[in-house]
Parts: sequence; C-alpha cells; structure tokens
Amino acid sequence: MPMIPVLPPTEENLLKASRDLAAGRLVSFPTETVYGLGANALDPLALARIFEAKRRPFFDPLIVHIADRKSLDTLCTGRDDRAERLMDRFWPGPLTLVLPRTDAVPDLATSGLPTVAVRMPAHPVALALIRMAGFPLAAPSANPFGRLSPTSAAHVRDHFSEGIAMILDGGPCRVGVESTILSLETKTPCLLRAGGVPREELEALIGPINLAETNPEKPSAPGQLPGHYAPRTRLRLLAGPPGPMAGPLKLGWLGFRSVPEGTFAATEVLSSAGDLREAAANLFACLHRLDSQGLDLILAEPIAERGLGAAIMDRLRKAAAGSAEGL
Ligand code: TXA
Ligand code: MG
Repeated sequence: MPMIPVLPPTEENLLKASRDLAAGRLVSFPTETVYGLGANALDPLALARIFEAKRRPFFDPLIVHIADRKSLDTLCTGRDDRAERLMDRFWPGPLTLVLPRTDAVPDLATSGLPTVAVRMPAHPVALALIRMAGFPLAAPSANPFGRLSPTSAAHVRDHFSEGIAMILDGGPCRVGVESTILSLETKTPCLLRAGGVPREELEALIGPINLAETNPEKPSAPGQLPGHYAPRTRLRLLAGPPGPMAGPLKLGWLGFRSVPEGTFAATEVLSSAGDLREAAANLFACLHRLDSQGLDLILAEPIAERGLGAAIMDRLRKAAAGSAEGL
C-alpha cells in the first residue's frame, strides 16, 4: 500500500492541501498542541471521512479551527464579554471555547449538540492552511480513536496507511497536549478538558470555573471518558515512589525528572529540569517511543496537578485506563 505523503509546508503544498480539502478530502496538519486531521467543517461528507478514518464514534463532537474572529459569526452565537476577553488573551492558542452554534454548522461536527467547539490555533502552518482554504477546518487529533495523540508528522504517518491525502510536516508540536476546552454555555464556565492553557490562568482572567465532573449540566463529551490517549503497552500510573523492581517483566519507566534505581528495559524523562512546559511538549513523543519497545509494562511517575501538570496527569490517567481495557 502506498504511504501517505509527508510534505513540507511550502506555498505549493499548502495550495495542494487546500484544494484537497475543498474537494472533501482529509489533510493532516500541525498545530501548536498536536497534529490535527482536518476536513472542511461545513461539508458533512468530508466530516464523515474523519469519523471513518479515525474509527471515531459519531457521538464524539469535533473542534472547529478558524484563522480570524470574523469567521465566528457564521459558526456561533452568544459571544459574551467572557468569550471576548478569553479570545483577546489566549487566541491564537491552545484554548477551545464551547458556544451556542448556528445552523451553518453540520450536525456531524457537533454530534447534534446545540453548541460548537471553536479554536484559533497558534501555528503558522495551520493558520495559513485555513486562510488558503477559505473555510473553517474541523480537526480532531490525527490518531485512531482512543490511541496516542501525534506530536510529529512521523507519529501521524505511523498511525494511518490510507484515507488521508497528505500530512503537512511542521516539525514537533510546541505545546504537546491538546487544547483546554471551556464551555461558556452555562453561567459559570465549565472546564471540559484540561489542556495547554492551565485552569489557573483562565480563572485569573474570568473568575471561578466549574470542573466537568462536578457540573450536572455537563454535555456528554467522550473526550472526557477514561480510556483515551492509550499506548498499546499496559501503563500503570504509580501512586508514590516505586518499590524495588526486579523480576521477569520487561519494564519501561516514564519519569518526570529522573529515573529511579531499578532494572528498566527502556526509560524516558519528561523534563530533567522539572519544567512543566517541556514535560508537556515531550509527553506523547516519550509515550510513542516507550510503546515501540515491546515492553510488558510502562510505569509512569505522577506529578503535581498544578498548571500544565493537570493536563499531563489527565493524559496519563486516561492512558492507564485505556491500556488496561485492552488486556
Ligand atoms: O488541541 C486540540 O484541541 C486538538 C488540535 C488538533 O486542535 N484537537 C483535539 O480534538 O483535541 P479532539 O477531537 O481530540 O477533541 C474533541 C473534543 C471532544 O472529544 C469533546 O470532548 C469536545 O472536544 N467537544 C467538541 N465539541 C463539543 C461540544 N459542542 N460540547 C462539548 N464538548 C465538545
Ligand atoms: Mg484526540
């Protein structure tokens, strides 16, 4: 089977990509968070191809990516003062806002919900592609449903063998975890997914935010379910320092700052300097590498859930739950 072409984001390739998108085909493109699998957000047939390629259930809504705030007029209503302030501060960037939708948005993009998730990515290639296409791009992370998110073009290529016209290579993703998702449907905003913008920074700007788990009005959003972001190898998130490690198991270690004494077949450290930004940027690449080593078990070290630590721990918990499901 021919491999999906991985191309540098030259003018010519961006033009070809925008034509592919206009024809209803899928293009994988870099964002600052993870690589997306993009389709014309206003074309239901193109959207259906995303679900088919990812084997994603239709009840899991998509994020719509835009390059300028004017595009919001066709997609959503109810932009209030909170929304404007959040956009002023965090766009372009890793924050997705859930707002009441217009009729222009196909049901497939929102799974029939009365809201739409929108974000303006902070990656020059993503912005150039959206501008050149002339329509918003719906884009989930470019991985089969439930698997590890891609933070490089090679990760995308390794995940798929068909169904994508091309992969635009914009190098490794700077942020490395998906966008924070904030619903503005309710009076008190609700955090639906921890991500690239820490909750503390949102609260400093707009005041208290509810967590989805504690909000009775939360929409059913499968991205919140355990079992996402899973490696094929079983992963266990340690509760504390690891005990003595020996025995027949081929163990892998995913540490925050260091590697403990013990016998590991493979080890990865997220940030030896203890920098959360660096740790988030390295997270999925470390997991992809450990997952390719034929290990029996990956032990992951917990980190404090402050700032980006909350998004990292969310991904590790879901990786642990998802990898256990496969047993
Ligand atoms: O960083 C990101 O956000 C990446 C890049 C490619 O932009 N995209 C991404 O998309 O993570 P995806 O498909 O993996 O996550 C979409 C999630 C859904 O699973 C759901 O939790 C939430 O966004 N979502 C989308 N529309 C929603 C809506 N109307 N109401 C509530 N949640 C929604
Ligand atoms: Mg995803």
